Amino acid sequence: MKKMESFLDLKSYSESHFDRLFHLSEDLRKSPHEPFQRGERLALLFFEPSTRTRMSFESAAWRFGLAPLVFDGGPHTSLEKGETVEDSILNVAAMQPKALVIRCGEAIPLRAISEKLSIPVINAGWGVQGHPTQALLDAVTMRRHFGSLQGKKVLILGDVTHSRVAASHLELLPKLGVQVAIAGPDEFLVSRPGVEVFKSLKAGLEWADVAMALRVQFERHTGSEKCPSTEEYRRLYGLNKESLQVFSSRGIIMHPGPINHGIEMETEVLSDPRAKILEQVTSGVYVREALLREILKGDN
Ligand code: CP
Repeated sequence: MKKMESFLDLKSYSESHFDRLFHLSEDLRKSPHEPFQRGERLALLFFEPSTRTRMSFESAAWRFGLAPLVFDGGPHTSLEKGETVEDSILNVAAMQPKALVIRCGEAIPLRAISEKLSIPVINAGWGVQGHPTQALLDAVTMRRHFGSLQGKKVLILGDVTHSRVAASHLELLPKLGVQVAIAGPDEFLVSRPGVEVFKSLKAGLEWADVAMALRVQFERHTGSEKCPSTEEYRRLYGLNKESLQVFSSRGIIMHPGPINHGIEMETEVLSDPRAKILEQVTSGVYVREALLREILKGDN
């Protein structure tokens, strides 16, 4: 990983960078490492809702010895008085934390803002542009199950068009030697070189080692999409005991969360021994701590 640079996407990183990060993440899981200099802070600015990402970055910060300063962009912030997102970011940066972890909408020029700052910015979910730390924690979860990811087959299922998680996986997984396919309603799919498209859930599940269901991102739909009804979606693409009968007994089922129960996934899937959904969340703490350590090393 490059030092002291912002981490906004996965484009400029190679397999060897990711390998280093994954090994550090596993080391940190086994035993805590030395903390950062005392009294330093990590600012978390969340302008969109979050449970997993925000709390796992907070956990990672504490483990690293950085005190988290949390800006939850809801009520009781100066956004209510008309302050802009950019001004909020610049003002928190002026408090001189060691880095900023930011979740924000598509319209925020995060790259341009990061270029004005002397501290690194970490993308914690930026519109539909990407959610790179989610992709990293998913890769860690897969590696823990399969060992090498070379040649493994990952089916990304559902609302790919509106998913920042899918956007980051389409950057990351091919670099790790993974074969990627997508399945879902035509309106939710994208066309990418090397990415196979399955017309039916059954065909995709028969092919895959990993079934990664995405949340249907209702809040990002404009209303002009020709989406199936939720009932139709559930019938054609929902993961449940019956649809998963054709899926490999050695495969794993993933979901970045939060889950729309009864739409992309039935609750019964959570107790399927192949489901790794809570393990993904656990991996998030260690991979985010590893990322903070890599970005801030040399500054300690
Ligand atoms: N996966 C994910 O980003 O979850 P949160 O929105 O709860 O952070």
